[in-house]
Amino acid sequence: MRVLGIETSCDETGVAIYDTETGLLGHALFSQVDLHADYGGVVPELASRDHVRKLLPLVRQVMRKTDTRPEDLGGIAYTAGPGLVGALMVGACAGRALAYGWGIPAVAIHHMEGHLLAPMLEENPPAFPFVALLVSGGHTQLVDVRGLGDYELMGESLDDAAGEAFDKAAKMLDLDYPGGPRLAALAEKGDPSRFTFPRPMTDRPGLNFSFSGLKTYTLTTVREHALADGLPDEQTCADIAAAFQEAVVDTLVIKCRRAIKASGHKTLVIAGGVSANKLLRERLEKALAKDGARVYYPRHEFCTDNGAMIAYAGSLRLQAGEHAGLEIEVRPRWPM
Ligand code: KG4
Ligand code: ZN
Repeated sequence: MRVLGIETSCDETGVAIYDTETGLLGHALFSQVDLHADYGGVVPELASRDHVRKLLPLVRQVMRKTDTRPEDLGGIAYTAGPGLVGALMVGACAGRALAYGWGIPAVAIHHMEGHLLAPMLEENPPAFPFVALLVSGGHTQLVDVRGLGDYELMGESLDDAAGEAFDKAAKMLDLDYPGGPRLAALAEKGDPSRFTFPRPMTDRPGLNFSFSGLKTYTLTTVREHALADGLPDEQTCADIAAAFQEAVVDTLVIKCRRAIKASGHKTLVIAGGVSANKLLRERLEKALAKDGARVYYPRHEFCTDNGAMIAYAGSLRLQAGEHAGLEIEVRPRWPM
């Protein structure tokens, strides 16, 4: 069965076709990063309007590239939440309408389920059960994944998400949006031992996170070392970036080890935008090897938002017999 996947929850328009026998056939992504860069963050109305412009041309492009006709499709999967309501509506309306017109089932997918299943698109995929660390711009969650749809939240951030903290710290260092990858690149030139940033909530038991204090600590450090233009010198900026990244990564690693111990599973999956972070991957692999556990992550381009993870999640849900009704419903806030 071939499944068309549509992702429009935030600022990327993603489309893909997954075949349950042969795997991922093709995918395309249009990123709106340039559109929002001047505003320092995603402008919801601009995002919706751009999804309207890009979505159908991308669907046509992926269908043409993969030699797929509507009658070859067994269903359409679209992201129904969580995310920006207007942006979600574009994907849901298009997905539902195309499925209706083509006489095939549609299925509504939870964006974070898409992320946590994304490593299964790789060769040698992980098997259930596993612990998933979901780290994106909007979420930081540890989830006990026992099977498709059988998820239990083990812990989450009580305030900012890890990606959000990366983006805000990057802004303090005058790096362009989206700051996460830029801060990570700057950190490579820095000395992480010059400053010691706090590791929030690691000194007590539990699996929740808090990143807002780290943000304040970063701001204070930047101000303390600021020159006339309001910014520290180049090397100090890099040292702050390195110390910040070190603190976030260290905190995530400590909690992941705890979650693995608590669950008894031997597999950790990391997904979401921040799972692209090189230091996080290296440290997790090393730390979990000590516990006899293995780490899996998606290829770089599927760490951030994409249509492939939605097509894949949709294929599993359609095969399990799930269908969305004819109503077009999105859930901007949708607990897993
Ligand atoms: O999953 P995603 O594409 O969108 C959401 O659903 O939020 O994640 C985007 C987030 C942004 O906060 C971005 O700065 C962060 O992931 N990010 C990174 C890296 N690449 C992306 N953070 C740290 N290091 C990276 N290499
Ligand atoms: Zn995402």
